[in-house]
Amino acid sequence: MKIAIMTGGGDCPGLNAIIQAIVTRAYELGYETLGVLDGYKGLIDGKVIPLRLSDVKDIYDVGGTILGTSRRNPFQSEETVAKVLENIRRFGIDVLIVIGGDDTLGAALKLSKRGVPIIGIPKTIDNDLLGTDYSVGFWTAVEIAAEAIKRLHTTAKSHRRVIVVEIMGRHAGWLTLMAGLAGGAHVILIPEKSLDIEEVCDIIRRREKAGERYTIVAVAEGVKPSDMGDFITISKERDEYGHVRLGGIAMILADEIKKRTGKETRAVILGHVQRGGSPNAFDKILGIRLGILAVDLIKDGKIGYAAVLKGRDVVAVKLDEVVNGVRKVPENLLELTSFFSHIEGGENG
Ligand code: F6P
Repeated sequence: MKIAIMTGGGDCPGLNAIIQAIVTRAYELGYETLGVLDGYKGLIDGKVIPLRLSDVKDIYDVGGTILGTSRRNPFQSEETVAKVLENIRRFGIDVLIVIGGDDTLGAALKLSKRGVPIIGIPKTIDNDLLGTDYSVGFWTAVEIAAEAIKRLHTTAKSHRRVIVVEIMGRHAGWLTLMAGLAGGAHVILIPEKSLDIEEVCDIIRRREKAGERYTIVAVAEGVKPSDMGDFITISKERDEYGHVRLGGIAMILADEIKKRTGKETRAVILGHVQRGGSPNAFDKILGIRLGILAVDLIKDGKIGYAAVLKGRDVVAVKLDEVVNGVRKVPENLLELTSFFSHIEGGENG
C-alpha cells in the first residue's frame, strides 16, 4: 500500500502533526508513504518524494507544512487534471490523503469522482468547514489573535484611541468571535451579522461618556458593510479558485469611525501572524488523532471519507459532508459579539 500525503491552501499550525501521525501509523502497518510537494502544484508537476519515519521525526511541534503548500487548482484545465491523474498512476499512489480547506478538499472530492482514492482531513484557521466540530489550526490561531487583541488594550487606553483590529475569516466569523471574546474586544463584527457603522459609533460614544478612554473593535476581514456592497479589499488579486485577496476593512472602518466620532483611531491587520508558528496542544493532539484515523480508514477500506472531530471523538464522515457549504457561526452564538459592549452609565446615550 502506497499512501501519498498532500497539504493544500493556506497553511496553519498543526499540519506537520498530521503528517507525522500519518507516516508513523503507516509505518506501524507496513505501508509506504510519499509526500506531494506544494499542494496540487506538486501533483501537476510530478513533485513527489518518499517520506520515511526519520523524515518526520519531531515535526509535530513545528508550524507550517514540511511539504509546502499552494493555492494551485488542479481543475484549472483538462490538461492539469490529466497531469494529476497521470502522476498518481506514475508514482503508484494507492490512496491520496488530502489535508486542506474548502477549495483543496472541494477539488479532492472532484478528483475522487474521477476515480482517485481520497481521504480528506479538514484544516483551516477559519474553522468554516462543515462536518467537523473544529478544523486543525483554528484554536492556535484563536490564541495568537486573542493575545494580540489583549495587547492592543493597553496602548489604546494610554492614547485614548479606538483601535480596529482585522482578523482573518472570509465567509465565517469563528476566529474573530472567539479571539475577540478571549481578547476582550468591546465590539466584534463578523460576516454572519450585518454591520451598522452607526451602531458601532454609538458604542464608542457611550463608552467615552461613561469615562472609558478607549475602544477595541475586532472585525473579520470578510465583513461587508451593508451600505458598501461587496468585500472591502486593498488588493485586486484573485487566486486560482477565483477568490479575491481580502484585507483592508479595518482601515475603511477606522476612517469612518474617526469621521463620525472624532476619536483618534488606528487600524491593525493581524494577517499571516495568525497562521504562523507552532500549534497549541489542542491542534497538535487533534492533528495526531486525525492523521492516525486517516490511515486506519485506509486499512478498513473506507475510501472517500474525511477524518473529523465530533465531540470528543475522531470519526469518519463522507468527504462531501465537509465541502458541501460553509459552516457559519450559528444564531445562538451571535449574542456573544456584544458581550463586552455594555457599559454602566453609558447605556442610554
Ligand atoms: O487559509 C484561510 C485564510 O487564512 C483566510 O482566512 C485568508 O483570507 C486567506 O487564507 C489568506 O490567504 P493567503 O495566504 O493566500 O494570503
